[in-house]
Amino acid sequence: MSPDARAAGQALDRSELGAVELPRPPLDDLPYRDLVRALVARQGFRLDFNRLEPGEALGLVCDQLLGPGTFVSERALLAQDIAALAALMGELVGARAAVALRTYFAPGDLVWHVDRVHEARAFRLVWPLGRPAGMRVTSRDNIDRTMFRAYMHREHPLLGRLDTRVARTGADVETLWAHRPAQLEAMRSGSFPFLIDPGQVHEITPGAASIHCVETPSQPGTYHRSAWANRHAPGLQIVVTGAAG
Ligand SMILES: [Fe+2]
Repeated sequence: MSPDARAAGQALDRSELGAVELPRPPLDDLPYRDLVRALVARQGFRLDFNRLEPGEALGLVCDQLLGPGTFVSERALLAQDIAALAALMGELVGARAAVALRTYFAPGDLVWHVDRVHEARAFRLVWPLGRPAGMRVTSRDNIDRTMFRAYMHREHPLLGRLDTRVARTGADVETLWAHRPAQLEAMRSGSFPFLIDPGQVHEITPGAASIHCVETPSQPGTYHRSAWANRHAPGLQIVVTGAAG
């Protein structure tokens, strides 16, 4: 295992939040900032790399969204950075990591939740570019899990429908849920009824990458939510999931 992967793994083991931050340069200082801004302007897409190498996958998406042969050198530099993050996440679990790029916003992400996969051990790295606010994270102890389960039992199907409507129509969550002011207020503030202490919430530095635990049949996940400020500016999100076992 590389020193970076070992350090990330140890930091995750020690973290009470179940999350670690990896500093990244500001978007303005990245050599592929113009490519990122061009992709951010194409709001609403999602691409899973599957078995494609980052360079190939970025080539396909850029050819299609921005035109053949555009931003060629920037594509290669961004692909290199994504490949390095994928290697790190792969090393954490000893398996090939899965990469996805997305520019859409799912309002369901405004609600505290854990990500879930079926494998035994899993971590997710999220690197949002061009978003105004950082992801919010809180410790498991700060969630009343009995209330959380009851809340999700009721709300999860509604949130799924809301995500689908926003993805299909691009409508605002404020408009679609104008008849649910209490829910909107919780999404704005993050103070859901199952959150025990709203003061015990950590914000990942905007523009930084972070790794959090994914819930599996054998490990707990990290509670997180997106910030309200991101709902109209989802940016370009690079999501790398390492899962194995
Ligand atoms: Fe999530």
